[in-house]
Amino acid sequence: MKALVKDKAEPGLTLRDVPEPAIGAGEVLIKVLRSGICGTDLHILAYDGWAQGAVRPPLIPGHEFVGEIVEVGRHAGEAPDQGGLAVGDLVSGEGHLVCGKCRNCRAGRRHLCRSTVGLGVGRDGAFAEYVALPASNVWVHRGPVDLDTAAIFDPFGNAVHTALSFPLVGEDVLITGAGPIGVMAAAVARHAGARNVVITDVSEPRLALARKVGVSLALNVAETSVAEGQRQLGMREGFDVGLEMSGSPAAMGEMVANMTHGGKMAVLGLPTEQFPVDFARIVTSMLTIKGIYGREMFETWYAMSVLLEGGLDLSPVITGRYSYRSFEDAFAEAASGNGGKVILDWTA
Ligand SMILES: NC(=O)c1ccc[n+]([C@@H]2O[C@H](COP(=O)([O-])OP(=O)(O)OC[C@H]3O[C@@H](n4cnc5c(N)ncnc54)[C@H](O)[C@@H]3O)[C@@H](O)[C@H]2O)c1
Ligand SMILES: [Zn+2]
Ligand SMILES: [Zn+2]
Repeated sequence: MKALVKDKAEPGLTLRDVPEPAIGAGEVLIKVLRSGICGTDLHILAYDGWAQGAVRPPLIPGHEFVGEIVEVGRHAGEAPDQGGLAVGDLVSGEGHLVCGKCRNCRAGRRHLCRSTVGLGVGRDGAFAEYVALPASNVWVHRGPVDLDTAAIFDPFGNAVHTALSFPLVGEDVLITGAGPIGVMAAAVARHAGARNVVITDVSEPRLALARKVGVSLALNVAETSVAEGQRQLGMREGFDVGLEMSGSPAAMGEMVANMTHGGKMAVLGLPTEQFPVDFARIVTSMLTIKGIYGREMFETWYAMSVLLEGGLDLSPVITGRYSYRSFEDAFAEAASGNGGKVILDWTA
């Protein structure tokens, strides 16, 4: 099969023929139809400091995908939490493979596993014509779903997990960072009944993308402040819910400063280094801060499917589509930081 391989401990990816993965008991083999390019994949491509610590070549990266089950391993068809799996099922994959043995796993809180292995990071992933996955990591699309949207269920799940961490109905929501995940979170917050949804970024093209999903205000914080945004909307007491989706220390500072007393913050953005925050403000504003990693298995996945069935539209977020043969162009577009999600088609 064709696959994009990180062959050596240096920058780059190679498109080449590799053997199809063999599946073990409890696993399924999936023919990949489309995959999404994530920031993680850009780190692996560039082989930066994080990637050097996390990845051991040779590795096939890629963890965001949709595909079709072509083989069901021993016992995999009965995965109890999936209601049965069969050849021909259209599926996406949960990219966090959990240990099944730790306290949280055994209590059913698999997203809190302490020994998670990442698909396309710690084991071969979905930038290939076929990928093997434990049946317990498979999400079956039981109803009709747009294939590009199904390819990005993993980051969509980050957005949903974060956005639905705290009640949003009628609340004023601040989202810092209008990358693909921030924009999807804005769409979810809108759909879920927030009053004002304010999103910030320092990139105009990304703010333009956010406007397409119907935010109340898309603020360029290189030019203006969140406090000024509050004034424009007639807000007086600060945001009820904050969703941090940039990983930027400045954005985190702005958020803490603009929350209402008793406000709730869900933080998905991953800072690359430690940074100071106004902890006295967090204490005296009595803020709740929750870190978010991945998706809840499989409550978030259920929410994603029914949000789409209920009319949530993510199509503005997908801005690039390429055949896997043009992967270099696809990665260049994803790395430009100007658009939304970029999709690789493994059938064209
Ligand atoms: N916790 C998890 O499980 C998890 C999973 C996936 C991604 N992430 C992280 O979530 C974040 C969002 O992911 P993404 O793919 O949308 O990333 P992205 O890098 O495409 O988007 C981040 C956006 O933040 C903007 N930004 C930079 N400085 C800012 C500032 N001061 N104020 C407001 N915005 C600012 C950038 O211009 C960019 O558009 C990233 O930090 C990513 O590493 C975390
Ligand atoms: Zn991802
Ligand atoms: Zn575990």
